[in-house]
Amino acid sequence: MSRRWKWRVAVYTLLAAALAGGWYGVMWWVERDTRPPGEPDVVFKETPQDAVEKMLEMARVTKDDVVYDLGCGDARFLTTAAKKYGCRGVGYEIQPHVAEIARKKVAEAGVGDLVEIREGDIFDSSVDLRPATVLTLFLLPELNVKLIPKIQTMRPGCRIVSFLFHMEGVRPKETVIYYMPNAKRDCRLLLWETPLEFESRP
Ligand SMILES: C[S@@+](CC[C@H](N)C(=O)[O-])C[C@H]1O[C@@H](n2cnc3c(N)ncnc32)[C@H](O)[C@@H]1O
Repeated sequence: MSRRWKWRVAVYTLLAAALAGGWYGVMWWVERDTRPPGEPDVVFKETPQDAVEKMLEMARVTKDDVVYDLGCGDARFLTTAAKKYGCRGVGYEIQPHVAEIARKKVAEAGVGDLVEIREGDIFDSSVDLRPATVLTLFLLPELNVKLIPKIQTMRPGCRIVSFLFHMEGVRPKETVIYYMPNAKRDCRLLLWETPLEFESRP
């Protein structure tokens, strides 16, 4: 093969690789938000109990509140709030086996009369946040943002607390770097209130 042809083959190979890579990138972009139905957007990982207690304090929970946890895991926010403050709670959980753990924990905590676990996708149109006064979150930053339209349906004066993650574009009322004595590490806790205060764009 002549030198000229070798160059041509090399250039065409590089071009084909770039096109394939570009196509792969486009498909990743298109499909990144289309998880199979019933699959979680984020895995089950518990908020450390120290942070749960601190976040409920930040949200100024009282017995008159109705606490919602979207992606409730083992329902620790709801059982803690029900036991400590005597308030009602509703948890949504997409993974059936995790929802089962949550129901077991609710029963063990003796708060079955106060806390309800609903199996389902938090982004489903049937999930209505209007009865909630407090919302607890440990999801991901982009999921917090995706929840904004639902959060905006909550009444004025409701509190939203998030473990670690921000809600881009929305100004928090309070951000706390909290040292968890039992977990022995710092974490970031955020509080917002309704109506949400949007950061102005430059
Ligand atoms: C990081 S864990 C947090 C659990 C609990 N809220 C806590 O703070 O200890 C997130 C939970 O959300 C659930 N989840 C993820 N995507 C969901 C969705 N689209 N609808 C309902 N639950 C979801 C997961 O199964 C998991 O249990």
